Amino acid sequence: MKKFFINTYGCQMNVHESEKLAGILFRRGYERAQSNEDADIILLNTCCIRETAETRILGNLGMIKKIKEKRPDVIVGICGCMPQKPGNAEMLKKRCPFIDIIFGTFNMYKLDEYLDAAENHEKISEIWDKEDKTDDAPIRRDGDIKAFVNIMYGCDNFCSYCIVPYVRGRERSRNFDDIVSEVCSLVRDGYKEITLLGQNVNSYKGGAPEFSHLLRALTTFDGEYRIKFMTSHPKDFTIDVAEAMASSDKIADFIHLPVQSGSDRVLKAMNRRYTSEDYLNKIEMIRSYIPSVGISTDIMVGFPGETEDDYKDTEKLVEKVRFDNIYTFIYSRRSGTVADKMPNQIDLSVKKGRIKRLIDLQFEISDELAEKCVGKTYRVLCDSWNNGIASGKSSCDKTISFQSERNCYGEFLNVKVVKTKKNKLIGELE
Ligand code: SAH
Ligand code: SF4
Ligand code: F3S
Repeated sequence: MKKFFINTYGCQMNVHESEKLAGILFRRGYERAQSNEDADIILLNTCCIRETAETRILGNLGMIKKIKEKRPDVIVGICGCMPQKPGNAEMLKKRCPFIDIIFGTFNMYKLDEYLDAAENHEKISEIWDKEDKTDDAPIRRDGDIKAFVNIMYGCDNFCSYCIVPYVRGRERSRNFDDIVSEVCSLVRDGYKEITLLGQNVNSYKGGAPEFSHLLRALTTFDGEYRIKFMTSHPKDFTIDVAEAMASSDKIADFIHLPVQSGSDRVLKAMNRRYTSEDYLNKIEMIRSYIPSVGISTDIMVGFPGETEDDYKDTEKLVEKVRFDNIYTFIYSRRSGTVADKMPNQIDLSVKKGRIKRLIDLQFEISDELAEKCVGKTYRVLCDSWNNGIASGKSSCDKTISFQSERNCYGEFLNVKVVKTKKNKLIGELE
C-alpha cells in the first residue's frame, strides 16, 4: 500500500487543510508514513506570510530533492499559499524541476485527479482562483478531542503588509446549517474543543445576521464542550459577540485579537481601520462582559516608517492591556502588497532590537499574570497525559500541568493552581 507524508507550514487554516488532504489520500486507500524518507507521496502544504516561511520551505525542498534522487518514483507535490503567490509557481518550476505537482489553495480538492496524472508520469502545475470546493473534501482529523471547523475562507481586509488576500482570495462564508451540523456531529463523536476558523470570523455572513448568532447556535448541544474561534479583527468585534461569550460556558473565555501596533500613524498606514484608543475601548468592553477573559494578540515591529516613538506607543499599549500572550513578528516585505512599495523600510538590526525589547516586556507581564493565578481554580480540558503527569488548558487558554494517577486525557477537570515555575502554571486536581 502506498504511503504519504504531509509537511504542513503556516497557520491553523493550513493545519486543517492538511487534514482534508489526508482525507483524500486515505479515501484513495493510502496510509500515513512516519517521515518523508519512507513515503511514496510527499506533500508540502505551504505558507508565504513572511519571507522566513518561504526560505524554510525552499530549504526543506533541498532535502526532498535528495530523496527524489534516491527514489525517483516518489511523487512530490507542493500546495497551499506559497505557489499561489504571483510568480512563485514559475520560480518553483525553475528552481525545483523535480516537483511533480504544483497546486494552490483553491484547487486542493482536485488532489485525486493530480495524483492520477502524476502516477502516469505527467507534471501538473495548476494555480487558479475560481470558487473553491474544499468543503467537499473528506476530513481525516489529527486529534480526537480537538477539532477545527472552517466557517469562512479568504479575506477582504487588505492590510497593507499582508499577502493573505492575494493567495486566499475574497472572503467567502460557509453555509450556517452546514457548520451547525458539522459541529453537532463532532460533539456527538466526543470532541471537546472545536475551533472555528476564518481570517476574520467577526465578519461571518453565511446566512446569519452576524457571527454571534452562529456562536449561540453552536452552544445548544448536550454535554460539556468548548467552542473557540480565530481570528477576530478588532474593527469587527461586536458587543453581541462578547454577550454571546458571557452567556454560555460552552464558548471559551478566550479571544485572539491582533492589534499589530500601538501607533495610530502606523495602524493607519497598515490599513487596519482602528486607532489604539478604539482597540483599548474594545478590550474594556470585552473585559466588562467577561472579567476572566484571556486575550492574546499579534504584534509586528519594523513596519515601513515605524519610528522609535511609534514603537514606544506599541510598548505603552502592551503595558496598558497586559495581554495573556503575544505573538511577535518582524515585518517582512511581501511583493505585490502596498507596504512593499512604501519608503523608509526599516533596517533588520533595528527590527531585531525592537522585537527583543517587546518580548522582554511581555515576559515580565506574563510572569506577573502567572503569579496572580496561584490559588485560583480552573476548569481544565486535559489534552496530554503521560505516566501520571497531565496537562491541559483552561477556558481562558492558560496551560496548567498537574499530577493524576489516572489517565484523564480528554476529560474536563477542576484544577487549582498551586505554584508557578518560570511562567508555567502547576496545579493540583480538586
Ligand atoms: N487574519 C489574521 C492573521 C493573519 S496572519 C489577522 O488579521 O490578524 C497572522 C499574523 O502574521 C498577522 O496578525 C500579522 O501579525 C503577521 N503578518 C502578516 N503579514 C506579515 C508580514 N508581511 N510581515 C510580518 N508579519 C506579518
Ligand atoms: Fe491579512 Fe489583515 Fe486579512 Fe488578517 S485581516 S489576513 S492581517 S489582510
Ligand atoms: Fe496561513 Fe500562511 Fe497562508 S499564515 S493563510 S498558511 S500565508
